[in-house]
Amino acid sequence: MKRNRYYLLVLSIVFGLFSCKNESKNDLALNSKNSTENSSIESKVEALLNKMTLEEKVGQMNQYTGFWDVTGPTPKEGNQALKYEHLKKGLVGSMINVTGSKNVRAVQKIAVEESRLGIPLIIGFDVIHGFKTLSPIPLAESASWDMDAIELSAKVAAKEAAASGINWTFAPMVDVSRDARWGRVMEGAGEDAYLGSKIATARVHGFQGADLSSKETIAACAKHFAAYGFAESGKDYNTVDIGTSTLYNVIFPPFIAAKNAGVRTFMNSFNEINGIPATGSAFLQREILKKQWGFDGFIVSDWGSINEMVAHRQAKNGKEATEIAANAGSDMDMESHLYVSELVNLVNEGKVKESVIDDAVRRILRVKFELGLFENPYKYCDEAYEKDVVGSKEINEAVLDVAKKSIVLLKNENNVLPLKKEGQKIALIGALADDKTSPLGNWRIGAEDGTAVSVLEGMQKYKGNTLFFEKGAEFVSGETVFAKELNINVSDKSEFIKATAIAKKADVVVMVLGEHGYQSGEGRSRSSLGLPGVQQELLEAVYKANSNIVLVLNNGRPLAVTWADEHIPAIVEAWQLGTQSGNAIAQVLYGDYNPSGKLPMTFPRSVGQVPIYYNVKSTGRPNMPAPGEVFWSHYSDITNKPLYPFGYGLSYTTFSYTDINVKNVKDNSFEISVTLTNTGNVTGKEVAQLYLKDDYASVTRPVKELKGFELVKLNPNESKTITFLLTENELGFYNNQGDFIVESGDFTVFVGGDSEAELTTKFELK
Ligand code: NOJ
Repeated sequence: MKRNRYYLLVLSIVFGLFSCKNESKNDLALNSKNSTENSSIESKVEALLNKMTLEEKVGQMNQYTGFWDVTGPTPKEGNQALKYEHLKKGLVGSMINVTGSKNVRAVQKIAVEESRLGIPLIIGFDVIHGFKTLSPIPLAESASWDMDAIELSAKVAAKEAAASGINWTFAPMVDVSRDARWGRVMEGAGEDAYLGSKIATARVHGFQGADLSSKETIAACAKHFAAYGFAESGKDYNTVDIGTSTLYNVIFPPFIAAKNAGVRTFMNSFNEINGIPATGSAFLQREILKKQWGFDGFIVSDWGSINEMVAHRQAKNGKEATEIAANAGSDMDMESHLYVSELVNLVNEGKVKESVIDDAVRRILRVKFELGLFENPYKYCDEAYEKDVVGSKEINEAVLDVAKKSIVLLKNENNVLPLKKEGQKIALIGALADDKTSPLGNWRIGAEDGTAVSVLEGMQKYKGNTLFFEKGAEFVSGETVFAKELNINVSDKSEFIKATAIAKKADVVVMVLGEHGYQSGEGRSRSSLGLPGVQQELLEAVYKANSNIVLVLNNGRPLAVTWADEHIPAIVEAWQLGTQSGNAIAQVLYGDYNPSGKLPMTFPRSVGQVPIYYNVKSTGRPNMPAPGEVFWSHYSDITNKPLYPFGYGLSYTTFSYTDINVKNVKDNSFEISVTLTNTGNVTGKEVAQLYLKDDYASVTRPVKELKGFELVKLNPNESKTITFLLTENELGFYNNQGDFIVESGDFTVFVGGDSEAELTTKFELK
């Protein structure tokens, strides 16, 4: 048992400490500006709060979704009429799903010009990976491991959304998940808390910039607090039951990173966690987030999640759910319509203190002031500016850049890739190859159908080859409308023959297979992880006709493509890459862009291995004691190894790692250096990764954990010494009391191009 070297008792001290250490220029700029502006914002908030009636305060905590065509006739009936009346009475603090500067102006006008105090609305929208012009889905972007590209992607998304009247996005989703069955893995940064924290920071900086009141930035929202990604059996909204160690070491870090990056809002989550619905959890919202972490923005519920506490059977009815949620620190009600109907009574009955309401309203008004909405409520409503910005060249270039960087080369036997640019006959096969909607992914409510560049279109730009195209089989039939189940083709193979015919006459076959954009996302969990429908059979049929295949995967989650890995010479993971999808894929296939992406999530061999992740615990029986032994932690019908490990990805060049050294630079800080060399023939980028193992600890630690990475570009034969710094932040962990501790003892380091890195060294923390 080791001695605690540094036992940091008070969490808030730790967060304070770390937030200073981790502050980037962006944070500092924001903070110094804030320090002068804060006091004036605070006094304005107080002055306004003093003028508000209880009803008006509660109104600020109420959010409605867009409820009628604001440019058309005023709704006269039912729910819609009621919402309209509420808006005029100042009983609505926020609206979502109202887009376009003209429509936003119309609702803002009612709030500002018709309500008693004229408090502007904060207009929210799910700007998840772009607004109208889409970047890759967040999981794909995370595969770039390129924080500048990810920040830029969020920045242009914010610019386009803000130009369309939006002031607030419900992103980034920072839920760690280890379960590829869960449909929402597409929206996150994958399985790792360290990588997830860096990405959370980049995305918050991208959306919010250094000045929230700028016309080009929007408030971000770290969601879903907390542990939504740990739904049992990967089924969306399902129960979450996890221990303290996982909560503190795996779930919380990306939320802390988002908070430290200055995120202005949090969203709670649909799930219960250890018996308490997150929306009604005072521990998560009041104790951890607001008290210990010192978060001074506001928390919005998830859609209807206050009311869902009744279905969870924690609250008997909506009124009780309201009481629990408000007291637990849920500041704004998204679409439960309960705060607006119940909170005033609950205050009058003494069940919710008015100070709870005041605290929530202060937080909401603070963010509205920071956005500059009081100075000019219509600053985001400039139609001419909107026309210039939406779909601009600058935005399309940025999304193309991040799309290329998100592609992961999984296999490239015999250098099938890159394709030759001339004199080749290429057979392009697969319904996804000419699909202009699916690459937009699931979260594309601001975009138009059919606006993605398809792979077919991208490849047609390379005119030196002869290109044949066949779908081989329809993928889905019927409408692909949001919120409807997809009708996947599981039986019609009548067109296979056309596909095999073009394969036979081709030098190389490119097959674009995988998941439709609507097969992942909210409510879209899967119990199998293979190629859906008849696609596996199509792949095998084409393989018989011509085995020289490049398989391009389009998908929103890791897939168990084990047969393909065993048979197909080249595999490219191209996810759902957004508006510029086909251009990015073609440039990679033709070698105009050398892929450098690395997987942010482990790919399983079979769904039975899920949840599968690299930073597992050792267990008491980690290894086979002798050949044929049974009593160790394994499956009897499949290896423990994944299909592709976390951090994995190839390039058109090769890299070597040599000369690992460790230096104790100062107390509790170690520098690990390694030489990285481009050993191939073309210039390429590599994500050098450092994994740390705390050899023995008072609470068991994972077999290894990512604690550093660097994206390095090298010419052929060029070498570079890379240095990683390990400080207490990386060496310590949270114990089961939720305290961050650093223990003395031995540590092992691994450096390499993925989580199975073998170059290793050791050091002792005295
Ligand atoms: C429900 C989702 O869980 C959440 O992430 C999203 O932001 C809201 N709906 C609003 O659309």
